[in-house]
Amino acid sequence: MENSKFQQMIDDFTLDSDAIKEIAASFRYDIDAGVRETGESSLRMLKSYIGLPTGNEKGEYLALDFGGTNLRVVLIRLEGNGKFEVIKKVAKPLVKPGEYDFICADANADELFDFIADMVEEAVDGDHDKKYLLGHTFSFPSAQTNIYNARLIIWTKEFATKGVEGEVVNDLLKAALARKNLSNVEPTAVINDTVAVLLAAAYKLGNVNVGSIYATGHNTCYYETYTSAGLGKPAMVINMESGGFNKLAINKYDYKLDLESEKPYEQRLEKMVSGRYMGELFAYCLDEAWGIGKVSFTSIDISRILADNSDTLNDVCALLKEKTNLDIETEDAVWVKALAETIASRSARVVVATYCGIMWHLYPNGGIPKQYIAVDGSVFEKMPTIKENMQKAIYEIMEDDADKLELVLENGGSALGAALAAAMEPVEG
Ligand code: BGC
Repeated sequence: MENSKFQQMIDDFTLDSDAIKEIAASFRYDIDAGVRETGESSLRMLKSYIGLPTGNEKGEYLALDFGGTNLRVVLIRLEGNGKFEVIKKVAKPLVKPGEYDFICADANADELFDFIADMVEEAVDGDHDKKYLLGHTFSFPSAQTNIYNARLIIWTKEFATKGVEGEVVNDLLKAALARKNLSNVEPTAVINDTVAVLLAAAYKLGNVNVGSIYATGHNTCYYETYTSAGLGKPAMVINMESGGFNKLAINKYDYKLDLESEKPYEQRLEKMVSGRYMGELFAYCLDEAWGIGKVSFTSIDISRILADNSDTLNDVCALLKEKTNLDIETEDAVWVKALAETIASRSARVVVATYCGIMWHLYPNGGIPKQYIAVDGSVFEKMPTIKENMQKAIYEIMEDDADKLELVLENGGSALGAALAAAMEPVEG
């Protein structure tokens, strides 16, 4: 085996302390530019028209969580004091191989939203009379003009359903509900999943300004008061669409992945860090090393490799055999694992650099107060090494301020956040 080839690939994915500090600084620059609307930012900086909850919101709301391949409709009772109860939950995949696929380019908006309306009907037990307010967590870049009106700018995460880009998603949902005689269900608010995570964590814990998703997709939002920028605009949560940040040096594997993706040149940062893409980057490397051709690896495969802490790395060898039919020895498996570790560690380090960039923007004169950073998502929650790498990167970038930031898992915040958005007074402006 040519070790030098693997060593080169590992070097290509390695980011040292200076590199992540630089990413944090240029990310901060783009936030500042975005807030001042100078036109130079690669961040979309989308207004959410919502602030932070008080923790005392109450009432029963429907929450629709639409952001990945699994769709959820949840009936939630907010009880105030950071407490809530899930009364009913309906969950279905948007793709069932051999049966249906609502996210491919052959599917259209009506088919997709009719499927969603059927799930809503199930969640309300077929009740066509009682009035329900629905909060919608829609986890794609959307341009908002108020809390209801969010127009999908562009699909991400390889979604391709026709007739949704450019449309107001709640209008599509409303029309589908009307087709099913469910006009008693009224969509009132739409938020991004990062915003949902932030609202959920603020409701339960308080003391949080940043919400982030680290999963199939990646993105972060934060509470912008406009004070550090000296601008007298109404404070609200800003969905940065940080996955679109593009002031990053990419390697040849990133480049190849980008060209072969549904949306070349878009979502540069997301394609380096999120669960949807890490396995693909890994597969390109193995192809270069061993000519395995187009084999698909997922982030679950990466997790399995990282979880093998045995001396012989038997499970790494077994996985390679299952996926590629290659018989590799422990000596090669060591390289394979080191490569997977470096791809995962690059991801964690870049994500943390963006969080630090936000802190520098919010507290330009230092004095960062102690606070949580709320994160949800399978990569953060389940991929081995990720949390440790993130913590280490916080120390490298923030130095003395590192202990001010605590990463906290906000599990399942999408539904709770949607219910909160339906319950809260929106921000005008
Ligand atoms: C979308 C974001 C979303 C993120 C996490 C990205 O692909 O553009 O809106 O927050 O995925 O779901």
